[in-house]
Amino acid sequence: MIAVVGSLNLDLVAPVPQHPVPGETVLGGDIAQHPGGKGANQAVAAARLGGNVAFVGRVGEDDAADVMLDAVRNEGVDTTHITRTPGVATGRALIAVDPAGENTIIVSPGANARLGAADCETASDLLRKAAVTVLQQEVPDEANHAAARLAGGIVLHNPAPAVAGAVPPPHVDVLVPNRTELAALTGTPVPETIDDVVAAARKLTGAGAVIVTLGGDGVLLLEGTAHLHIPAFRVRPVDTTAAGDSFCGALAVALAEGRTLEQAARWACAAAAISTTRAGAQPSLARRDEVEAFLAGRR
Ligand code: RIB
Repeated sequence: MIAVVGSLNLDLVAPVPQHPVPGETVLGGDIAQHPGGKGANQAVAAARLGGNVAFVGRVGEDDAADVMLDAVRNEGVDTTHITRTPGVATGRALIAVDPAGENTIIVSPGANARLGAADCETASDLLRKAAVTVLQQEVPDEANHAAARLAGGIVLHNPAPAVAGAVPPPHVDVLVPNRTELAALTGTPVPETIDDVVAAARKLTGAGAVIVTLGGDGVLLLEGTAHLHIPAFRVRPVDTTAAGDSFCGALAVALAEGRTLEQAARWACAAAAISTTRAGAQPSLARRDEVEAFLAGRR
C-alpha cells in the first residue's frame, strides 16, 4: 500500500500567450477547472498505475471539498483520513499555461495549511503499514515530519514547491527535487548543466538517494557516490502541469512493487512524459496500460 500525505487543490487553469511580468495584464483563453494539488495528483497518478493508495489530508467544508473528495475517491484512493475542516476553504491553485506548455502556479493552501502532526498520528497504522509514504511541501512541515517519523516503509519526499524556510524531514529514503527545489535546498544557484546538478545534489545530506527531475533533460539519479543521467522521452508537450507529480506517483508504485531505483525512475519518466502531452493536472495522468504501450513503442 502507498500512503500519500499532502495537499488537495481545485485548479483554475487559463491558457496565456505569454506569462505576465509584474505589473502586466495579459488576456488569456477560456478557464478550465480541474482537480489538482501535488498530494492529490501524486495519489491519483499512483492509483491509475495500479497502486493501492490511501490519502492523509484536509479539505474545507465548501463545494470544492466535494469535487476534490469525489476526484480521488473515483480513482479508488482511500479517503478515510481526509478530514473536512470547518471555517476554511479547500485549497485552490491559479495556473497559467503558455503555448510551450510551461506553467506558473499560485497556490492558496486553505485547509491544506491545517494539516498537522495529529492528523498523521491518527493515521499511524496506515503509515506504519505503507510500503511507500509520499510527501510534498504544500502542507506544513510538522505534518511531513510526523509522517516520516511514523512511516514503516520507504519515505519518498518531493520538496515541491520550493517554500522559503521549509525543512524536509530528517530521514528521507528518496528525495525528488527539481532544479529550482534543489537550488533552494542547497543554497546554490539553479543548476543548468548536468555537472552542475550533480555538484549541487552532492551537497544534500540526509537522504538515501536523490532523483533530480530535469523536465526535458530527464532525471539525474544519485545513490551513494554513484550517479546516473536518464534522458527524457521525446514528446511534444502541451501542458507540463503535474509532470513532477506523475513522476513521483509512478516512482512510488514501482518502488512499492520492489523495482530498483533505476528501473523505477525509467518507468516514472514514461508516465511523466505522457502526462505532458495532455492538459490539466489530474486529467493528464497516465494509466498503467498507457505507460506499458508507450514503452513498448519506444523499444
Ligand atoms: O504540481 C501541479 C500542482 O501544483 C497543481 O495541480 C496545483 O494545484 C499545485 O499544487
